[in-house]
This record gives sequence, structure tokens and C-alpha cells, in this order.
Amino acid sequence: MSHRIAAKITGVAGYVPPKVMTNADLEKMVATSDEWIRTRTGIRERHVAEKGTATSHMATEATKALLAQTKTDPAEIDLIVLATVTPDMFFPATACLVQERIGAKKAWGFDLSAACSGFAYALTVGAQFVGAGTHRKVLVIGSDTMTSVLDYTDRATCVLFGDGAGAVLLEAAGSNEGILDFAHDVDGSGGAFLYMPGGGSLHPSSQETLQKRMHYVHQEGSQVFKYAVRRMSEMASHLLNKNGLTKDDLKLLVPHQANLRIIRATQERLGLDDSKVLANIDGYGNTTAGTIPLGLRDAVEQGRVHKGDLVLIVTVGAGYTTGGVLLRWAY
Ligand SMILES: CC(C)(COP(=O)(O)OP(=O)(O)OC[C@H]1O[C@@H](n2cnc3c(N)ncnc32)[C@H](O)[C@@H]1OP(=O)(O)O)[C@@H](O)C(=O)NCCC(=O)NCCS
Repeated sequence: MSHRIAAKITGVAGYVPPKVMTNADLEKMVATSDEWIRTRTGIRERHVAEKGTATSHMATEATKALLAQTKTDPAEIDLIVLATVTPDMFFPATACLVQERIGAKKAWGFDLSAACSGFAYALTVGAQFVGAGTHRKVLVIGSDTMTSVLDYTDRATCVLFGDGAGAVLLEAAGSNEGILDFAHDVDGSGGAFLYMPGGGSLHPSSQETLQKRMHYVHQEGSQVFKYAVRRMSEMASHLLNKNGLTKDDLKLLVPHQANLRIIRATQERLGLDDSKVLANIDGYGNTTAGTIPLGLRDAVEQGRVHKGDLVLIVTVGAGYTTGGVLLRWAY
């Protein structure tokens, strides 16, 4: 049985900071090369938040653009679900900071932590309130400032990520439009392969945690790579099969952007050609919760999705978290 939610995306916008870090810039910081980064990851450059700006700033900018695009009065927003693993601070939640800055007077909201699957999870969670009929306009935001938790002496991680945010508006859907189905799962055994141990309640910030570089991303890249390729393709096939659909029905796969080789391997397993797969990692790197809304934004702006098209989102992230959302594009 599909998990249809009577909610649809009625607008999408994104924001990346103006400052760009190229592979040539990274060559000056660690023992790497533009050639290695491009061929092993598909990344050419990434955007980096300026000092003094962070996740709430990017989320607010993306949301302002979304409100202008959809001609929405912020006072009409009922709920803000913000996916991030790099909140401005532990508390208050970044959703609260955004609520105040955009003037969403009646909205409640919270942050959701599911790493690179964060936006897919937040989309599903936010949509439940629209589908239930209790909330009319819900903002779902993915925003991460990964450069704030990168170790710029570790070439295996610092070249992979960038900063960025995206936001969508959810409203009630008619039949056969909007979210047709979703599937999410967690495999906690993956926690050992991608994590940031310092600064939490287990290892509160101290001289020792700083010296041990515990406030940075730690990753076993090849483990994560294999898991991501397997689970992204399995998730996509699962949602298509479950809904009696095939790859030919699909207009666009919007996969999490972690590595172009993961995206291409997933697409090969599914038998999709390049025209059916959104890949924009070259200009942004992995923006964690930002990749899916930035991908949807680029797809709309490039005319790659139109009303009635079948769109499939698939993600894998730290946790491990896996996500899939099947949509009939509604505008
Ligand atoms: C990180 C990743 C790009 C590394 O690519 P890989 O092909 O698996 O490479 P390996 O980790 O096997 O490393 C191969 C060699 O390249 C080196 N290397 C790693 N980063 C490098 C860099 N930036 N520049 C140059 N060499 C680098 C390694 O040190 C290793 O050298 P060695 O063989 O002498 O030990 C890849 O594993 C990956 O993308 N993993 C998934 C990451 C991800 O998506 N994370 C987020 C998930 S949501």
C-alpha cells in the first residue's frame, strides 16, 4: 500500500553564499589536486558561508526568495520544519531563528536531524500536517553550513562539502498530485562510518576534544560510498515497484549529491540516462540537507520538470539514514 499524503510542493527556492572555494583553492590547503577531486567526486567548486553568517542566514534567504516567488504572506505560514546537522547553536532551534526573521507570526517549528536525508525526512514530516488538514501552509527547509565542521587538514573530507540551503512550500493537494508515496529507514550500525563526536553530551567541548579534533566530520569514505550506491538504487526501485511504475514513467530522479560517482552508479543500476537524473554537485559539493531542495530548484529553473511529471527523490546520509519520496509535480 502506498503512503500517499495529500500535500504538494507549490514553490521551491534556494540560496548559496556568494563566496566560492575552488579545487585550486583547496590545492593550497591540503595535498590534493583539481584532477583528483574532479575525477573522484565530480566537484569543481563549492560555496562557503562568510564568517558571522551560518545556517539560519542561508535558510532565511532561501525562504524569503520562496515567499516572494509564491506570493505568500509570512503570517500565513503555520509550521516550519528545518532539516540541519549544523544548527547555528544547540538551542534555540534554527527554525525559531528563521520564524522570527521572516515574520512568520503564527508558525510553530522545530529542527530535524537526519544528515543528508534530512530534507527528505522533513518533507515527509511537514507534509503529514498538510495531509491531515490541520495546517494549510508548511515551510520545509534544508540548510547546512558543513564548512563549520570540516577539518581543513583532512583531505579525504574537506574537499567534499559546501554550504547551501533550499526551501519548499507545502499546501493541500488534489488527487494524483503531490506526494504519492514515501519510504524511509535507518540502519544505526552505520553510525561508526560518518559522525562528529565532539561537543555533544557524550563528549562536551573541552581542551581535550579540541586537541583530538573531535568537532569535525569523521568519515570512512569507501564504506559510505558502497552503502550509498546500494541503498539509493534499492530505494528508488522499491518505490517504483510498489507503485506499479517503471523507470520509463519517471521524468526525473533527484538524488542526494554526495559524489558524482555514487549518482552515476545509482543511475546505471536503475538503467536511467543522464537526461533523467539531476546532477549539480559540480558547483556546490555536498550541501547535506541542502542538496535536494537545491536540486529541485535547478530542475524547475532549467525546465526539467513540469506539472504532471513524476519525480523521485532518493537520499542516503549519516546514521545511516535512507529516504525516498515519490512526487507528481504539481505546478
Ligand atoms: C571520499 C571519497 C571521495 C574517496 O574516494 P575513494 O575512491 O573511495 O578513495 P579512497 O578513500 O579509497 O582513497 C584512495 C586514495 O586517495 C587518497 N585521497 C583521499 N582524499 C584525497 C584527496 N582529496 N586528494 C588526493 N588524494 C586523496 C587517499 O588518501 C587514498 O590514498 P592511499 O591509497 O594512498 O591511502 C569516496 O569514498 C566517497 O565519496 N565516499 C562517500 C562520501 C560521501 O558521500 N559522504 C557523505 C555521505 S552522505
